[in-house]
Amino acid sequence: MHFQCWYLPECEAQVAALQSRLAELNVTIQPVMTEKINAKFLRLNPEMALVLDQEGLSLSAQGMKMQPNWLAEIPRLKRATLKTEMLARACQCNEKPKLLDATAGLGHDTLLMARFGANVTLVERHPVLFALLEDNHRRAMQDTYLAPIVANIHLIHADSAQYLQHLQQQQTDFDVVYLDPMFPQRDQNQNAIKKQAQVKKQMQLLHMLLPEHGEMDLGDHLLELAKAITKKVIVKRPRHAVYLNNAAPQHQWLGDACRFDGYFNHQELH
Ligand SMILES: C[S@@+](CC[C@H](N)C(=O)[O-])C[C@H]1O[C@@H](n2cnc3c(N)ncnc32)[C@H](O)[C@@H]1O
Repeated sequence: MHFQCWYLPECEAQVAALQSRLAELNVTIQPVMTEKINAKFLRLNPEMALVLDQEGLSLSAQGMKMQPNWLAEIPRLKRATLKTEMLARACQCNEKPKLLDATAGLGHDTLLMARFGANVTLVERHPVLFALLEDNHRRAMQDTYLAPIVANIHLIHADSAQYLQHLQQQQTDFDVVYLDPMFPQRDQNQNAIKKQAQVKKQMQLLHMLLPEHGEMDLGDHLLELAKAITKKVIVKRPRHAVYLNNAAPQHQWLGDACRFDGYFNHQELH
C-alpha cells in the first residue's frame, strides 16, 4: 500500500516518525511538504492521500479530509446518558465490562463505550485506519477531559478473525464483544439515515478506503468466533438490514437509523 503524504513545514519533525510507523504496518508514503493545506488545496489534489497538519494525521480524497477526531466528540460525550445512548445500554457499559470492539473503524463507538466506564480493546485491521487511530489516541491523551477515558482504550492492529481465534486458544474471555462490520452503502436505507454532513463525509471516505469488492468482507464469520470467547455479543446493523450471518438475535434495541442485535451465550466458556 502506498500513499502520498502532504505535510506542513511545522510538521517536518513528525513525518519521519510517521513514515517508520507506517512502514511497520506495511504502508509506504511519499512525503511532500506544502505551505498550506486548506479546502482549495484539497479540491486541487483530489486523489486519496494522507495529510499531516496542525490537526494531526488525516486521510483526504475528492476535496474532503477525514480523521477519527475524538476531540470533536467531547460535547456529545459530556451530554451522553444511558438513556440517550442505546449502545451503552446494550453493552451495559456502566457495569465497566471488559469489552472487545472487534471492528473499530474510527473508534467513535469505542470512545463512547469507554466514556461510560468500559475497558475497551479495539481491533482494526486496515493499516491506514489503524495509523489514524493511533495518532488520534495520542492526541486525545493530551486532553484533560479525554485522557482518563482513552487511558481505558487499548489498540490492536489485527484481523479480528485471527485475533478472536488467538484469544480462544489463550482461553481469554471478554464480558462483551461488539461488532459493527461494514455494510454495503447501497443497501442502507438512505431515508432512514439523516446523518449530519460531517458523519456522511467520514462514511464516504471510509467506504472509498475500504472497497466493497476485493478486500472487504461483511464480517458474517466474526459472529461465531466472537461467541466462543464471550457470553454477550452486540452487533450494530442499519435498522432494516439482514441479520449478521443470518442469525436471529435473542434481543434487539431499535433506533431510528440503526439497531443493536444481542446474542447471549449461557454455556460455560472453555
Ligand atoms: C463500520 S466500520 C466501524 C465503525 C465504528 N463502529 C466507529 O464507531 O467508527 C467497520 C470497521 O471494521 C473494520 N473491520 C472489518 N472487519 C474486520 C476484521 N475482520 N478485523 C478487524 N477489523 C475489521 C473495517 O476495516 C472498518 O474500519
